[in-house]
Amino acid sequence: MTVTEAALQLPTTEEQIRRDDRAHVFHSWSAQGHIDPLPIARAEGSCFWDYQGKRYLDFSSQLVNVNIGYQHPKLVAAIQEYAARQCTIAPGFANDARSEAARMLAELAPGDLNKVFFTNAGADANEHAIRMARLHTGRQKVLAAYRSYHGATSGAISLTGDPRRWGSEPGVPGVVHFWGPYPYRSSFHASTPEEECERALQHLRETLMVEGSHTVAAIVLETVVGTNGVLVPPDGYLQGVREICDEHGIVLIADEVMTGFGRCGEWFAVDHWGITPDLITFAKGVNSGYVPLGGVLISEAIAASFSDRVYPGGLTYSGHPLACASAVASMSIMREEGIIEHARRLGSEVIGPELAKLADRHPSVGEVRGLGVMWALELVRNRETREPLVPYNASGSDAAPMAEFATACKQAGLWPFTHFNRTHVVPPCTTSADEVQEGIAILDDALAVADRHVTE
Ligand SMILES: Cc1ncc(COP(=O)(O)O)c(C=O)c1O
Repeated sequence: MTVTEAALQLPTTEEQIRRDDRAHVFHSWSAQGHIDPLPIARAEGSCFWDYQGKRYLDFSSQLVNVNIGYQHPKLVAAIQEYAARQCTIAPGFANDARSEAARMLAELAPGDLNKVFFTNAGADANEHAIRMARLHTGRQKVLAAYRSYHGATSGAISLTGDPRRWGSEPGVPGVVHFWGPYPYRSSFHASTPEEECERALQHLRETLMVEGSHTVAAIVLETVVGTNGVLVPPDGYLQGVREICDEHGIVLIADEVMTGFGRCGEWFAVDHWGITPDLITFAKGVNSGYVPLGGVLISEAIAASFSDRVYPGGLTYSGHPLACASAVASMSIMREEGIIEHARRLGSEVIGPELAKLADRHPSVGEVRGLGVMWALELVRNRETREPLVPYNASGSDAAPMAEFATACKQAGLWPFTHFNRTHVVPPCTTSADEVQEGIAILDDALAVADRHVTE
């Protein structure tokens, strides 16, 4: 037995793994007695396999984080190499991997976002971003959008504008929600993206007027709303929000936890619209979750607030060397292999056009939207009324049509990402055009399940 084998004595049978999981693992967002997590034997590229040898093409990138694909050999090798050198060192020391990760991130980020505070994940990145904004401005309130997700720690879940927040209420004080643009289901009765943009900005201005713009420290938004629908903002919206923030001295925080590192065909989704936020939060795609890592990219002005004043925050694992080494390797590989460009082309040349064909063939597809490798099919019972295939936040028998659709995908070897009445197409950014075609063919068949519920 090698040293590694002796230290890593893991259960080997599917039955053992399942049994210990059910006995001892407490899972996220679940009624513990109602779940049966699938044991995964291995993963490679854009696929993973169960213990029966069944292959799943992953159209979810797990939690939309495995941008570089599974077990990228160069990334695995870099982690192994760095683990052999230096597994850990406290944040108070300077460390080569941390310095280089921060330098590279600053180089990739727009404008003067030249400093990085490293966290363990996306939620704590958002916690620190709002803390920085509050201390920088001396104001307390934070505006966040409905139909958003920002993480599950107390501040981040308070910012969240979806049902995941309800169980943690009352949340932290000072968070106010507003409506963002969503042309397909406009909260503003708009009939064009231009109208939606203009009215959503007007709504934001009015929210600030009644809240008192001088009391607002930050506006936080997902550059492209992720789990809540792949809501791509109409052109002009983010520029408008930037202007509003400038006018009122409000910090603009772009949550790029899901949208960064190739997901939207750019390093950061804000690059698509050419805007520079004051703070960008990131996690997921920075190293595809090979080692947990998140962070906040900080503008010069906000960083300067803490030149002579102590920043009241820290984490045992801030800038964890192994996590930072994996981020350095991941960003380098993305550059070398043109992964960002590939993601952009995959969206405009393959995923977008192929999903549009699905919409032509299937009456249950109400809308196709997205960019890069971040797309959604919004499923409806009736294209005229846009009645969703299942109600908002449906569960149990109300959610059955979506559950049947997901089962059909899985049976055919596709792991889908479903949320409410939508299926998202969010494979790794490294997925080939052929693999995308393979997955879309499975979606094509599975959509027959949704079509059966169409009433028009
Ligand atoms: C936009 C966005 N922000 C924040 C988070 C929270 O990140 P984490 O789960 O790493 O804390 C997520 C996670 O899905 C997310 O999608």
